[in-house]
Amino acid sequence: MLTGKRIVLVISGGIACYKSLDLIRRLRERGARVRAVMTAGSQKFITPLAVGALTADKVYTELFDREAEQDVGHIRLARDTDLIIVAPATANLMAKMAHGIADDLATAVLLATDRPVLVAPAMNPKMWANPATLRNVETLKRDGRHFVGPNRGEMAESGEAGLGRMSEPLEIVAAAGALLRSGSQAEAAKPLAGRRIVITSGPTHEPIDPVRYIANRSSGKQGHAIAAAAAAAGAEVTLVAGPVNLPDPQGVTVVHVETAREMLAAVKTALPADVAVMAAAVADWRVASEGGQKIKKDGSGKPPSLEFVENPDILATVGHDEALRPKLLVGFAAETQNVLENAQGKLTRKRADWIVANDVSATTGIMGGDANTVRIVSASGIEDWPSMDKQEVAVRLVQRIADHLKRL
Ligand SMILES: Cc1cc2nc3c(=O)[nH]c(=O)nc-3n(C[C@H](O)[C@H](O)[C@H](O)COP(=O)(O)O)c2cc1C
Repeated sequence: MLTGKRIVLVISGGIACYKSLDLIRRLRERGARVRAVMTAGSQKFITPLAVGALTADKVYTELFDREAEQDVGHIRLARDTDLIIVAPATANLMAKMAHGIADDLATAVLLATDRPVLVAPAMNPKMWANPATLRNVETLKRDGRHFVGPNRGEMAESGEAGLGRMSEPLEIVAAAGALLRSGSQAEAAKPLAGRRIVITSGPTHEPIDPVRYIANRSSGKQGHAIAAAAAAAGAEVTLVAGPVNLPDPQGVTVVHVETAREMLAAVKTALPADVAVMAAAVADWRVASEGGQKIKKDGSGKPPSLEFVENPDILATVGHDEALRPKLLVGFAAETQNVLENAQGKLTRKRADWIVANDVSATTGIMGGDANTVRIVSASGIEDWPSMDKQEVAVRLVQRIADHLKRL
């Protein structure tokens, strides 16, 4: 069950360190690759020599290790792994984890990781029962850290008994296997589970008379791809779609609309939500008085004159309405000039959190095409993304949304 899995084992300084040596054996017997990170404290109990002999790998002990930083480094150690196990986890290490302290290699790895973390506490029952420890454990659980143990029983030292014994190596192996199989994988695959997202897509059509309309070249490919990616990530998605030649994405509730006013009404009905992504190219204007009959040539040779009025601004309406505004409001800025300035202007004027800006000049081929080159403009700066498929932009944007929601 652990074949081919990469595990980083963080060993901190408790008497239960001796059991970590057996844990390494058990993990490796099951096909896992184990890399060990040792705190200074743990090296008082067992040696890197013994740990390295059992992992058959380098043992990582120093944060400021020039060789390791060039080779693996704490960031890669934190990320290039399927699971991090902390065994034994001392009261001290858990306190540092709970408070985001990163003053040695072990804690820096634990702070930098986005992988599942399994914590096996081991300490004296009085240390475990201390309100500070219990508070830290609660915090870590809320942060999504997983726990195995501690067990009740005899302490290794001093003949004391109670709750605080580290789980046995095989119990830790079983918990690691279960975590890798189910929870964490499902979580990783469905990072938007339980979230509601409203997305708009496509152009709007603004009627001139019963047979004519004003439109734009938006194909809806980008908005529809975002809806599909959000649904695949486990979100409950409502897609408000203007007139497009695309099939409805699977697993998405689609509301088909034609005009900007219909789109706004549908968005208002679909909200509130956790996130709104306004990707539609909404017409800025409509004809003031839509003709009830087809406008005919009158033989004078003079074209009819059309008067325009401004359409409602859907992004700004949602941005300024406290009752409607989601936690994360994302707008799109399709511009043909001064892309960045216009995007930054939209961000503040419309009270959006992010603007996905793209240059839709005819030469870029973005409008209606399959590729997109975007910049994400937010209060914290500008992120340039390389040119990629609209589907890839969608997947990346959805991942960024999921990461953002996790931090809120
Ligand atoms: C003999 C001895 C045994 C210890 N056993 C534990 C223990 O089981 N659990 C624990 O949380 N701390 C224990 N400590 C205290 C830790 O070693 C101490 O808090 C240390 O700062 C932990 O550092 P680290 O978390 O960076 O490894 C023990 C200390 C000594 C001297």
